[in-house]
Amino acid sequence: MDARPGLTDVRQDQAFFGREEELRRVLNNLREGRHTLITGRFGIGKSTLMNEARLLLTGEKHRVEFHSRAPALGRDSVLTVTSPAPLGECLRELAGGLYRNGDLHLEAGGERADWGAVKKEFTRLGVRTMESEVLKGLAGGGKKYVLFIANLDRISLSSMRFFQSLVRITIVCGSAIETKDLEPFKGFWASFDRVQLERLPDGVARQLVSHLMSLSSLHAEDTAMCRNEILNSADGNPFHIKNLVYRAATQKSLGKQEIRAFREVEEGPYFNMGPLYMIGAGVLTAVKFFSAGTEKREHYIYYSAIGFILYLTFRVFRSFFVFRPQRRK
Ligand SMILES: Nc1ncnc2c1ncn2[C@@H]1O[C@H](COP(=O)(O)OP(=O)(O)OP(=O)(O)O)[C@@H](O)[C@H]1O
Ligand SMILES: [Mg+2]
Repeated sequence: MDARPGLTDVRQDQAFFGREEELRRVLNNLREGRHTLITGRFGIGKSTLMNEARLLLTGEKHRVEFHSRAPALGRDSVLTVTSPAPLGECLRELAGGLYRNGDLHLEAGGERADWGAVKKEFTRLGVRTMESEVLKGLAGGGKKYVLFIANLDRISLSSMRFFQSLVRITIVCGSAIETKDLEPFKGFWASFDRVQLERLPDGVARQLVSHLMSLSSLHAEDTAMCRNEILNSADGNPFHIKNLVYRAATQKSLGKQEIRAFREVEEGPYFNMGPLYMIGAGVLTAVKFFSAGTEKREHYIYYSAIGFILYLTFRVFRSFFVFRPQRRK
């Protein structure tokens, strides 16, 4: 769906609502040097909370209620990482930050070269050496680095050793939808204080919807009903709230019918694999049937029955075939 010309895309809006309690905990933790893991469902606001904490910690943003007597962290002691995987990419991101801070010291003295050249040289070192150069850089500057790492649940088993070293020499604030329960991960997650994000409280969700609706100058036949439908459908998830307001704003006329249709969006992030499995089962049955020939009637009955049972199985256990793809930014 295309936006109307001149329409504000509310999805890009940066305002931050609620979450005071959680923010306070994250800030206290990081100021006191405790690793923190922000967990919660997809789109619930983990990255946003992490970003808000980073801005307040470095003094790039001020909010009286979160003021601390401790001096703000220098921006040169904070690094952000988009994802821990693939590891090579993650190491390059860290190295880039260290390079900007003058904390990356490669053998060839490439420090004065531009980042493009240094990056090439760095990549040539191979993963093991890249790991140790990054760890050296993080530990060597005489300051304690705070790392903000999104999607920490994407850590792979093979890169665990590196991340275990990382939490020994830096303070890590990460976000994750869920944490893996396997043995090597357990110890790692145990070093984090968890801040679990739940749905936005009704009052806050209502504030956010009103704010976004006024930004997008939304005109619905019945504004109150539109707001309520959005609130019901989104169930306190800010990602859904933003998308719903955006969708509402892109519709020229917004009648009660369209507003009611918002409820469907709840299934948005899921992709139902059921039909695919069902078609697969159908094709398999057909192939079996034709390979057996049509002259044997018992085969005909037998394969039809199997096909029907497979179909029933997929209908009944539909929820097991729902696949959730990774959301892209
Ligand atoms: N407290 C908040 N106030 C206002 N908007 C918010 C808030 N929290 C999140 N949002 C908005 O909701 C959207 C989703 O937030 P965010 O990307 O932080 O979620 P997430 O939990 O990191 O998602 P994912 O699981 O995909 O990583 C963003 O557009 C963000 O601006
Ligand atoms: Mg995120």
